[in-house]
Amino acid sequence: MGVAIIGGTGLTTLENLEITHREVVHTPYGEPSGPITHGILHGREVLFLARHGYGHTIPPHRVNYRANIWALQHLGVDRLFAVAAVGGIGNAMKPARIAFPDQIIDYTWGRNHTFFEDDLAHVTHIDFTYPYDDAMRQLLIEAAREAGIDAVESGTYGATQGPRLETAAEIQRLQQDGCDLVGMTGMPEAALARELGMAYATSAVVANWGAGLQPEPISMADIERHLEDGMDRVKQLLGALIPSL
Ligand code: HPA
Repeated sequence: MGVAIIGGTGLTTLENLEITHREVVHTPYGEPSGPITHGILHGREVLFLARHGYGHTIPPHRVNYRANIWALQHLGVDRLFAVAAVGGIGNAMKPARIAFPDQIIDYTWGRNHTFFEDDLAHVTHIDFTYPYDDAMRQLLIEAAREAGIDAVESGTYGATQGPRLETAAEIQRLQQDGCDLVGMTGMPEAALARELGMAYATSAVVANWGAGLQPEPISMADIERHLEDGMDRVKQLLGALIPSL
């Protein structure tokens, strides 16, 4: 069973990963965000891919989600742990905290969001009632408890188009819709993984309060500081998670 980690903003490399090699994969959907990194993490073989490219140059709406997911599946991955920076909306979603969302609302548009559109033998509708894999979420929850990480164990992720941050009114609307978190990369990534039958779960790291939820403007310096704290915790989390797989 192959395990992969997709790293988001703030996690373009995994320090503890003993890299064995990097593999370029060409896909029918174009090029992934970069070569796939093969290595050993906490004693287990793991694949890693930086969602925005290893130099963090690909904005959320330009990520080739189909190529990334296809390439990982092609290399035998059937369990995919995503890490993603988000804005906090719900009261519990304080900057630098980690959350394991259990639901998604998709506000993105114009992205290549399905494998099921061309050359179909029949029209296919995946079941996406529960967008994240429950067994993988439980593993994350248990790993966080074991590592003593104060994580929020559920929440609804609102996926926005980006790359700009939201307006205050947009965040209010997301709040009314029931979103606890807001991010730009959760979709179509989760749906594409489901389409290819891969188990998928996300560790979201809160970088900032959503627009309008704090009196001062959102600063990149604050985002970077919170992400650094949060990603340190993600690394601890992986230290507990990976040996349990
Ligand atoms: N909105 C959307 N995506 C994000 C944010 C945000 O406030 N912070 C980090 N990713």
